[in-house]
Amino acid sequence: MVSHSLSAWLMSSAPPPAWFAALVAVGMYTALRSAATFLAWLHRAFLRPGRDLAGRYGTWAVVTGATDGIGRAVALELARAGLHLVLVGRSPDKLARVAKELAAAAPACKVRSVAFDLAVTGDAARRGVARVAAAVEGRDVGVLVNNAGATYPCAAYFHEVEGPVWEAVLRVNVEAATRITRALLPAMAARGRGAVVNVGSGSSVVVPAFPLYAVYAASKAYVDQFSRSLSVEYKQYGVDVQCQVYILLPSNSRRSSVVINQGFYLVAFKHPVPMVGLAVAVLVQIPLYVATKMSPVKGASPFIPSPEEYARAALRCVGYEARCVPYWRHSVQWFLASLAPDAALNHWRLQTGLQKRNETKALLGGKDCS
Ligand SMILES: NC(=O)c1ccc[n+]([C@@H]2O[C@H](COP(=O)([O-])OP(=O)(O)OC[C@H]3O[C@@H](n4cnc5c(N)ncnc54)[C@H](OP(=O)(O)O)[C@@H]3O)[C@@H](O)[C@H]2O)c1
Repeated sequence: MVSHSLSAWLMSSAPPPAWFAALVAVGMYTALRSAATFLAWLHRAFLRPGRDLAGRYGTWAVVTGATDGIGRAVALELARAGLHLVLVGRSPDKLARVAKELAAAAPACKVRSVAFDLAVTGDAARRGVARVAAAVEGRDVGVLVNNAGATYPCAAYFHEVEGPVWEAVLRVNVEAATRITRALLPAMAARGRGAVVNVGSGSSVVVPAFPLYAVYAASKAYVDQFSRSLSVEYKQYGVDVQCQVYILLPSNSRRSSVVINQGFYLVAFKHPVPMVGLAVAVLVQIPLYVATKMSPVKGASPFIPSPEEYARAALRCVGYEARCVPYWRHSVQWFLASLAPDAALNHWRLQTGLQKRNETKALLGGKDCS
């Protein structure tokens, strides 16, 4: 019926039927939206300049988990950007080593260190946070980076994870980040400027589930929602709160990024097997990691940045979206993940986790690792 009226119209010189004009309008709107999304992504990824952090927010920064990996690299970048630093870490030796590196990289940078095991709770946690607050007393703290993170030593079913292990994950990733933010944010709001950066993870947003690391992924989901909610609460006070994860579009869910990128989605729909195959293959190759001791992959590669490369990208997006993907190649991964059905991603993650769990068990002679 529709094809008959379409061919009748094509043979005549009459104006197009209303339904056809409406379809063209919807198609053009979708194409324009996709093009705008793509251009905005190009701008964010390659052209948008980073903010002047010291000038805009204040001259001191606090970085937790500053003794290794991303936190150490972020501290070095902040020092090179002209900020003074309060380093928070659990090992006095490692803190002293990073302070030395900072003095070599940025001689003008003043450094204070607070040795604080973020996995403690109760009074010990309150005392630790009070020491961080004392270290920043009277200083113009403009940037807080809640970077410290803990996970399981290896993949495991929830019932296999020992109490102290999952409790430490929640204390470091959730409780400590919340307490430290609570201690520092009021002064930023009172001064009318500040930036809080919480380090999230693709495990809670890029994939629909993260089996065998359930508590870790759930803790990072907290970080994500905590940051985005605070971002709305404190915008009016001049404080930018941000969760840094891996995403193609700011403030969009996996599903909405699929819808907005309609053009790619149609290709995927037309050729589901190769597109989904490609998406899964690329994800398996490049599983949203930064090459640190926490990550199971070692050494940088095109999709797995070194901490230094990651830190430069991370600082460039401070103060913009409430949720951002600092490293552009990770946002490509995010997009590819959005093409695959949830069931395929869940299957892939479970198989990957089980493989890791079994390899570790074999190494430990059949024992669970946690
Ligand atoms: N690497 C990745 O692929 C990846 C992916 C997604 C998200 N992330 C997130 O990125 C952040 C940084 O991770 P990373 O890869 O740089 O890990 P990392 O190399 O293991 O460094 C983690 C940092 O946190 C500190 N830390 C851990 N537990 C602590 C505790 N109880 N008290 C005080 N400090 C503690 C570590 O201190 P020590 O030096 O004493 O161990 C270290 O400085 C984490 O929040 C992580 O969840 C990483």
